[in-house]
Amino acid sequence: MPKDKLFKRKRRLIENFNFGKSTAKVFDDMLDRSVPFYAEIQRMIAEMVADFAVPGTNVYDLGCSTGNTFLTINRHVPQDVNFVGVDSSKEMLDIARQKLKQKGVSQKCELVCMDLNKAVPITNASVVILNLTLQFVRPLYRKRVVESIAAGLNDGGCLILVEKVLSPNSTINRFFIKYYYEFKKRQGYSRMEIAQKREALENVLVPYHFDENRELLLSSGFKGCDIFFRWYNFCGIVALK
Ligand SMILES: C[S@@+](CC[C@H](N)C(=O)[O-])C[C@H]1O[C@@H](n2cnc3c(N)ncnc32)[C@H](O)[C@@H]1O
Repeated sequence: MPKDKLFKRKRRLIENFNFGKSTAKVFDDMLDRSVPFYAEIQRMIAEMVADFAVPGTNVYDLGCSTGNTFLTINRHVPQDVNFVGVDSSKEMLDIARQKLKQKGVSQKCELVCMDLNKAVPITNASVVILNLTLQFVRPLYRKRVVESIAAGLNDGGCLILVEKVLSPNSTINRFFIKYYYEFKKRQGYSRMEIAQKREALENVLVPYHFDENRELLLSSGFKGCDIFFRWYNFCGIVALK
């Protein structure tokens, strides 16, 4: 897996972070070293999808990137479930397509290049996954995205939402961010890499408070939700239609 060195070199001008070719190439390494318990989150998602996926329905992964989630859940769901992956980065989807073919995923799998700020194509869904993606959708459109998901989910279906979150208390928030940067240092990122990526993500990754996410879910057609994962400022929520 190519190593993420995107922010290793000192940059004179930090541009906004994007999910184009150079990011896509190293993205699996970036996820592994930047998301605490990434593999465990995928395993937990698979465990929940196994219980919620219904034969003859669609399982969506919005912001599917390089296809890791389908590659984890495919062994846990019935054959006649359809996978639909959506991402706005063509380069991410090209890699996903390659990996899904190589690893021989047996479910029917459709990958769609689409901007969630513009449209959310959900129908006949038993599960929708948003793993670290809603935080990149412009706040202006998040309610529309979550409402479209709720409308396209069948009764009894679920949304699995994982996000970076802010703490309502600014002192706690600062500590959580500090612990996260310590985690990144333990993963081999230098101070400069961490600082430059942080700057590139400013205004691109816009986290909500947990309470804001819960309110968004409950006011958009979900009847209940709970936290299934929490590590400082990372939070996994499952919401039921
Ligand atoms: C942090 S990654 C998601 C990781 C992935 N879900 C996983 O489990 O490995 C965020 C993904 O969302 C995609 N994305 C960001 N904004 C988007 C948008 N407006 N519409 C569709 N996809 C978007 C990016 O291209 C990127 O692949």
